[in-house]
Amino acid sequence: MPLIVLLGCQWGDEGKGKIVDLIAKEADLVARYQGGNNAGHTVVIDDATFILHTIPTGILHPETKCLLGNGMVIDPEAFSKEIKELEQHGIAVDTNLMISETAHLVMPYHKLLDLVQEKKRGKGKIGTTGRGIGCSYGDKVTRQGIRVLDLRNKDRFVKKVQANLEFYKPLFEQIYSTNSFAADDIIQRVWKYADMFNSLAVDGVSVINQYIEQGKNIMCEGAQGIHLDIDFGTYPYVTSSNPSPGGVCTGLGISPTKIDRIFGVVKAYTTRVGEGPFPTELTMEQGDNLRKLGSEYGATTGRPRRCGWFDAPLVRRAIQISGTREVAITKLDVLDTLDTINVCTAYRCNGRTVDIFPFGIDADDNYEPIYEELPGWKTCTEDITDFDALPEKAKAYLHKIEELISAKVITVSVSPKRGKCITLIDHFF
Ligand code: GDP
Ligand code: IMO
Ligand code: MG
Repeated sequence: MPLIVLLGCQWGDEGKGKIVDLIAKEADLVARYQGGNNAGHTVVIDDATFILHTIPTGILHPETKCLLGNGMVIDPEAFSKEIKELEQHGIAVDTNLMISETAHLVMPYHKLLDLVQEKKRGKGKIGTTGRGIGCSYGDKVTRQGIRVLDLRNKDRFVKKVQANLEFYKPLFEQIYSTNSFAADDIIQRVWKYADMFNSLAVDGVSVINQYIEQGKNIMCEGAQGIHLDIDFGTYPYVTSSNPSPGGVCTGLGISPTKIDRIFGVVKAYTTRVGEGPFPTELTMEQGDNLRKLGSEYGATTGRPRRCGWFDAPLVRRAIQISGTREVAITKLDVLDTLDTINVCTAYRCNGRTVDIFPFGIDADDNYEPIYEELPGWKTCTEDITDFDALPEKAKAYLHKIEELISAKVITVSVSPKRGKCITLIDHFF
């Protein structure tokens, strides 16, 4: 039985939560492989809206087990809060959740460092979610990170925190002119979660490989999107992990040969939160219009999302990197009322035509989108469950996207509500 990866092909918030939820009902295990609570994956079930930040979206299915992979960074305070909120809704969390013992922790000083660094960057800020994500990954890479398994032994944990605070104290006090933390305060704040972590911690690599050996259905849930990838995104306006497929192998400990299928999630237009280049961004009235129609406000920080037209070169790059030939298109319904819809087919830059999103693109670079205007369908698609029942112009829009990105649409989401999708394949697994 297959292992499926589902990842975002734009700048995050493509509607991955909604699609993961759709597929997770057939999955035995849903595993997150990167990121932390910078993610916000939304599922709307009847009157309740669930926003998953650290915990895989699969947790909303009682028969599905969930794993937080070693490639993740976990904020104990936010994680504990998320568990409590889910439990208040009657979701069985502790029986279905496992954490890889080698995942890293986001410590309180990472959150402070994220904020003061952003402040210091001033106009050059990245627009991070302020969750300490990049700073935790920074400690991982410089080999001073604290991992879930460090919560097994208090002496070891205390020594690591003390050493890290010796490192951070002058940085906070002398460079950022802010108060540092007392080691005892940090130890107290974090150690209180040790029992919770110890009860959920597993050898995540063995767990997922056993699921593979047993032929179970596994879904790997990407957070963020390929254009926020630390290697392939619009650096430095990126996150600090690899949403791209390589991250699945390093973030869960599985061989690339075990990945059977990769699905891309693509919004029917484009959005981005935070700073960085965005060639098809709409600045004036139309950006606001799309924001209102699509309720484009960040699921994690509540920030208004920047909105723009569908950008084929952007998605083409994501398709190239991920190798996916199958995509889920989300939020088609958001375009239901528009008279005309633009699609960017390529860019023009210094007299050249560029058909794939370039690396190193700068705000000063003039990548001018070349648009093709398509007629709107002016019909509500929200209740449509069958592709053939879609208005002809909506079908033409979807076929145009397929043609431009050389990938097949496997499902079309037409509402935030659970299950409201037009699915064109018989089985996901
Ligand atoms: P994710 O981070 O990729 O999981 O996406 P988010 O949850 O951050 O943002 C997607 C937003 O769009 C959420 O508010 C979803 O409830 C909503 N959404 C998802 N699919 C659809 C859809 O097909 N139509 C509409 N109108 N909203 C959708
Ligand atoms: P989901 O999983 C959209 C963006 C931030 C910022 C940059 C770096 O919901 O799609 P970070 O806090 O990661 O250091 O911020 O990345 N960003 C996201 N944008 N969706 C997300 O997650 C994001 N996670 C991070 O806005 O520009
Ligand atoms: Mg989101």
